Order: sequence, then C-alpha cells, then structure tokens
Amino acid sequence: MIKFKEKKIIITSALPYANGPLHVGHLVEYIQTDIFVRFLKLIGKDVVYCCADDTHGAPIEIKADELGIKPEQLIAKFFKEHQEDFKNFHIEFDSYYTTNSKENKYFSDLFFERLKKKRLIYKKEIEVTYCEYCKRTLPDRYVKGKCPKCNAPNQYGDVCEVCNATYETVDLIEPYCVICRNKPIRKKSEHYFFKLSSLSDKLEKYINGNKNFQQEIKNFVLNWIKEGLEDWNISRDGPYFGFKIPNEKNKYYYVWLDAPIGYISSLANYLKSTKKTEKIWNESKIIHFIGKDITYFHFLFWPAMLYAAGFNLPESIIVHGFLTVNNEKMSKSRGTFFTAKDFLQKYEAEHLRYYYANVLSKKLADIDLNLNEFRDRINNELAGNLGNFCYRIISFVNKNFDGKVKDIDKNNEIINEINNKIKNIEKYYNDLNFNSAVNEILLISDIGNKYFQKNEPWALIKKDKNRVHKICGLCVNIAKNLSILINPILPKFSENLQKQLKLKNLKWKDIDFKLKNHKIGKEKILVKKVEEIKEELFPLNLKVAEIIEVKEHPNADKLYVLQINLGKEKRQLVAGLKDYYSKNELKNKKIIVVTNLKHAKLRGIESQGMLLAGEDKEGHVGVLTVKGAKAGDVVNFGNLKNSNKEISFENFRKLKIVVKESKVVSNDLELKTNKETVSVEKVTEGKVR
Ligand code: 2FM
Ligand code: ZN
Repeated sequence: MIKFKEKKIIITSALPYANGPLHVGHLVEYIQTDIFVRFLKLIGKDVVYCCADDTHGAPIEIKADELGIKPEQLIAKFFKEHQEDFKNFHIEFDSYYTTNSKENKYFSDLFFERLKKKRLIYKKEIEVTYCEYCKRTLPDRYVKGKCPKCNAPNQYGDVCEVCNATYETVDLIEPYCVICRNKPIRKKSEHYFFKLSSLSDKLEKYINGNKNFQQEIKNFVLNWIKEGLEDWNISRDGPYFGFKIPNEKNKYYYVWLDAPIGYISSLANYLKSTKKTEKIWNESKIIHFIGKDITYFHFLFWPAMLYAAGFNLPESIIVHGFLTVNNEKMSKSRGTFFTAKDFLQKYEAEHLRYYYANVLSKKLADIDLNLNEFRDRINNELAGNLGNFCYRIISFVNKNFDGKVKDIDKNNEIINEINNKIKNIEKYYNDLNFNSAVNEILLISDIGNKYFQKNEPWALIKKDKNRVHKICGLCVNIAKNLSILINPILPKFSENLQKQLKLKNLKWKDIDFKLKNHKIGKEKILVKKVEEIKEELFPLNLKVAEIIEVKEHPNADKLYVLQINLGKEKRQLVAGLKDYYSKNELKNKKIIVVTNLKHAKLRGIESQGMLLAGEDKEGHVGVLTVKGAKAGDVVNFGNLKNSNKEISFENFRKLKIVVKESKVVSNDLELKTNKETVSVEKVTEGKVR
C-alpha cells in the first residue's frame, strides 16, 4: 500500500497585543495550544506552531504617545517581555513574529490588491467619531456609550460585551471620549469597505459544512449570518500605528485586517521566504485557537478574506471561554489579577500547566482558577500521586539494585488495563479533552502505586530478590510510559523524569513495556509542592462606624470629640476635623475607623481609635465613608484579612494608603466592605491619614 505523506498542520494561537504584559488569562490559550502542538509532534505529525505580537492599532499609538516614546519602542519592549513569559511557561512556538514586519506588509498589500481586483473593496464616505479636544478620530476602544442593539451602558465602539453585536463607533448612543470624557463630534471621512455581505452564502456553507467547529459557536455564527452581514470598514485615519494604504496620504489598514494576516507572515518567517508561503499555507491544515471574544473576526471576516484572496480556509477554529479566578472576573482590587510574571513569583510554570490541563476540554464554558483547588491538585495529585510514584520506584531501584532494571513482571492484567487507558488518553488529547487525559494518566500512576504497595517489595526482597526485580521492572516501565503520556502537559517534568531514567526524547511510539537490562540514574524530587496559601493580614483592623454625637474639644481649637457606634460597642474618638466639617455635617455619617490603634490621650481626652480621612495637595480634607454598609461591618483591602494586633501610631504612619479616583487603595488593593467600595469625600487624589 502506498502511503501518502500526511498534510502539514499549521497551528496558531491568537496574537497578543503588544501594549501590555501577558496575564494568566492569556495563558489559558497558549497553554491549551502548546499542549495540543506538543501532543501532535509527539505522535509524529508535521506541525508548525505560529504566533506573533499584534502590534498595530490606535491603542498602541495612544499609549506610546502618553509615554512619550515611539510606538516601535513600545512594541519592542513587549515583544521581548512576551517572549520571556512564553519561554518561562514552556510555550514553544516554531515561529514567534511581529505583525509590524515587511512580510506582513507584503501580505496585507497582497490581500488588499486581490480583494480590490475582485471588486470586493469599495470606497464610501462615512461619519466617524472625532474628538476635537484630542484631535483624533476616536477608534472603537476610545469611545464608549450605550450599545445600539441591546442598550447596555458603557460599551466600547466596536462590539458589545453583553450581546456580542458589532457596530460602528458612530452608532453608539450617548457617546463620550474615553481619553478626555468630552462628547465627540461626527465628521465625514472616506473609507475602504470590504463587501462581506456578498460572501454570506459562501460563509454559511463553510460554517455549516465544517464538522470540526463547536456546535455552540456554529449556532452563534449562523445566526449572525441569518441576521444579515454588514460590509466591513478596513481603513483608519491617521494618527494611527499601522501600514499605510498604498496611494493614500493619511489612511491605514485597520489593525484587524493585518492581524490575522500575521498568521501567514509568521509562517513566512518560519519558512524564511514569502514566495513559498502561499503554497504551503494552501497545502496545509490550518487550525486556529482563539478566545470566544474574537469569534466574529475569525469565523466571518477572516475566512471571507482568505476565500476572496484565494487562500486556504481554516480546517478548525477552537474556541475557549474566559478565565475567572475564584469564580469571579480577575481583578486588581481583589488581588486576583496575576500577570505571567506575578504568578511565577509564587508558583511554578508547570503548576499552572497542570491545573489548566485539568479544567480544559473542548467546551466553550469559562474556566475557573480556584486557588484552593489549585493547591490541592498540585499537592495531592501531581506531587502526591504522579510525582510520588515515580520518585518512589526510582529511589527503590537505586537503593536495592544499584539502579539496575533486569527484568519485567509480565502481569497481563495490569499491562492490558494500562494499554487501554493509553488508547483513551491518545483520543482525549486528539479531541482536546485534556481534563480526561489527565484523569486517565493519574489512574495509571494509581495502578502503579497500588501494585507496588500490594507486593511489598521492601519485605519480599529478603525472600525472592528476582521477583522484586521483575516488580520494579514493571514499575519502571510504567514510569517511563507516564513520562511520555504527561509530556505535552508537563514537558519539564517529563524531561527530568526521563533524565532520571537515563532516557531521552521519547516519542509516543516508545510507549511499551519492554525496557529491561537498563541502568537508571539518581532520583530527585520531581514536583515542588505549593505552600499553604497563606491568608495575608493587613495590619489595621478597619470597621464601619456611625457618628452619634459631635462635641468640641474643651482644650483644642481644631479637634472634635466624637461618640461612635461600632455595632457591638460604642467608642470615643478625637479627630482633627473642625476646620473641614461642621458638627451637623458629621452627625450620622458612616465613617471608617482603625479599631486596633493604641489608645491615646489627645490634649487630655482619650481617643479609642482613629477615623480615616483623605487629604490632597491643596489641603482639602474629606472623611472615608460608605452608604449602604452598617455600623460594625468589616472593611478590607482586597481580600486581605484584618489583623487584631494593636498597632502604634508610628507604625500606622508607615503604611502606604492613598486616594485614587476617590477610592482608597493600598498596593493596588481597593478598600471595601462586602457590599460596597469605600469612597472619600472632597478628595480625588491624595494621601490617607
Ligand atoms: O484580541 C486580541 O487580543 C487580538 N490581538 C487577537 C488577534 S488574533 C489574530 F487575528 F491576529
Ligand atoms: Zn478626547
């Protein structure tokens, strides 16, 4: 039988914007794709994994402008940072490129030309949103207003995060400029449009006929098509960072035109030739991985562009959901926003890879990084089961047989059971059901552990050394197979395990039970456990108090004596507010009080704590306050618990607490009760005292 060469597979992850650091949310997709790519390579497929920094667009130009640097400098910085992060998380691209490259310019022009030739591009005068204060046409992310389809407030100018509709910035209801908050004007400007509408039928056929697409996504996209597609504006006015449109003075390709083309240019970078690229792209299977927020671009605009320019369409587009941390949106103020770098301060890259593999499947549902579950999984499953089995067997063989593996116990029951699991694992990896793959892998290591335990080789060795040799042989083979099975998820763990077994670069086809007459190397701990996730304490005990009575201090001009209600107790405070508040203004106000401050006498009157107030550079002073909370309610910075230990005034003064946009923050964590964020009266930016 003649065997035809299998097609090359080109796999991509979405291109990260070159204007910010990668965070654990981004990593879901790169880890998911990387696991898949590693698996395919392991089973011998010809795979090229391509990605790039997405470098164009107004946000990059605006941010560079704010920083007083050139966009090129900004994107260079993030290009370097992103690559470091990827490397640290063992995400291994075959080509990591940039969309600000000559290849990408070449292909963007090529697409534009071909689309124009097919009369799929036309010019039309439209109204754009222009800010007269900022002197720029406002791009979609810089105008906000109500969604024209569902009326949701505070939506950006391109797509509604509530109903997923896409639209133009001028369609927004009650728009405002995000940079200066002024109301923008409408201005006429001529733009290039891509006739997406004329390709509706083609797109419908493509989506309908594709067996690989997730059904939920198919439904979404087919519905969009049914509702009618609108033509797509693919140009933007300067100032803009991007590729200038040929023969135009101040017009650029819209970033979403040249971004996906970046997949092709990244391939060109891999091939070191733009000439061969088109042919190879067209002869290959293309698989994209994306997040659900960019479905419209990848299932409609992109295939339409590819089709119209005569390029091969994606064979599959895998869509994943968003990441939540502890079941909520990642948030700086809750302390659950981790950049890739933050994460590595506390944990290992493979901890995250392992955890994500456990929660990833082909489903579109959002995935949650639950920090307690994370710790348990790493400690009990990864370290306690998998790591422990491998360590145990390697150290036993070293201790008792000087590292020699002589023979194998031909225990068919166990070998068959494991072989069945291996078949399942291969299928699970292929179907992107990594969670099930991990489950089966753990079950194999469980089988190994139980087999070892049941045979009590440490006792048996005194009676039947040969039998123990065989038992160890089977266990070493199980460990070897585990090192291959887990390799896509934990490449470093796998490499280290193979090193200890004196093996190297094993492939899927090396999975077997044949390793004998072999000498292994020294054992070493394979997995670092995650420490108990410490509840960090904030040194103040902060509570909501209600002011019941305000009196003047008998011996001081600037001080009041307040009686306050702290829910379960009443206290007396002395506060320097006389210059800023009248007695009536303070009465019944709900304030924030430090309840663990060392009590002190101020001009002869005892103060049993201190209220917090903000102060700005101009000398305005306003108290911290809440509306809905009750007296006695606890107030916290992010999710830090309050300390009960008494604190001195000197130590209180060392804490960095500031007012930012009328909110109170310490180390990026916002001060809040469980119902509301604490606000500051009269002061928007300043210190808290
Ligand atoms: O949404 C994003 O983060 C984009 N930078 C993704 C681009 S993917 C591709 F189309 F270029
Ligand atoms: Zn403006």
